[in-house]
Amino acid sequence: MGKVISFANQKGGIGKTTSAINISSAIGSMGRRVLLVDMDPQGNTTSGVGINKKNMRNSIYDMLIGRCTAAEAVVKTEFAGLSIIPANISLAGAEFELVSLDGRENRLRDALSLIQDEYDFIFIDCPPSLGILTINALTASDGVIIPMQCEYFALEGLSQLTYTIKQIKRLYNPRLELVGILVTMYNARLNLTLQVMDELKKYYSDKLFSTTVVRNVRLSEAPSYGQPILYYDKFSKGSKAYMDVAIEVLERI
Ligand SMILES: Nc1ncnc2c1ncn2[C@@H]1O[C@H](COP(=O)(O)OP(=O)(O)OP(=O)(O)O)[C@@H](O)[C@H]1O
Ligand SMILES: [Mg+2]
Repeated sequence: MGKVISFANQKGGIGKTTSAINISSAIGSMGRRVLLVDMDPQGNTTSGVGINKKNMRNSIYDMLIGRCTAAEAVVKTEFAGLSIIPANISLAGAEFELVSLDGRENRLRDALSLIQDEYDFIFIDCPPSLGILTINALTASDGVIIPMQCEYFALEGLSQLTYTIKQIKRLYNPRLELVGILVTMYNARLNLTLQVMDELKKYYSDKLFSTTVVRNVRLSEAPSYGQPILYYDKFSKGSKAYMDVAIEVLERI
């Protein structure tokens, strides 16, 4: 049965989607069967792997409210080993609709359980909040990867998030483990970056990925071409970094 891993952080714009796309596609390129699940109404993961958000048959929203099965929501991408359950803005409505449905925290887990055998890994990209969509993602997951940027409030956000993870583990999903903390958009020339790195090493040393993802303009360009970095610019620093992270992820899970 495939391992399910979420990319979560309630802070916005810190590299969840970039990490989800590029780690998934790197692992897919290594011959594993990978499913990406877009749980963000912004649909950045969806468009980032070349799927048109405006014209999709079924989306994660249809699946969550029971209008289609997971198998019916899966779309193959043009990249090796990589399929996706896409999202678009219709998912924004699910926040409210899910609240009135039975087993509202388990909707994603139950839907994915029917196709979990067909994949080696299922990676879920979460929205920047700790609402019902992220709760569904964490309830469905064996592990969570926390991407983060070395900023002033990053550590405060991190303790809030690890608290939420503990709560979900206790209430809904005892299997949930923290796979690792991934530093993104790393810039060693900033003093603040180095200070935050020191703190991270002090408090989370066993959880910190040894690879950090540097700030690399090619990583920010790739989504506008609908391509993971491995296909957009294989020899860029960003591509090398995510390949190394993917190998670490495989070692950890
Ligand atoms: N290592 C990097 N180097 C340069 N740009 C990056 C890097 N990682 C991410 N970006 C860019 O930073 C922006 C935010 O990244 P991303 O969309 O992955 O964050 P997010 O956490 O998913 O955001 P949101 O919370 O809105 O979903 C994007 O424009 C992305 O292309
Ligand atoms: Mg995102």
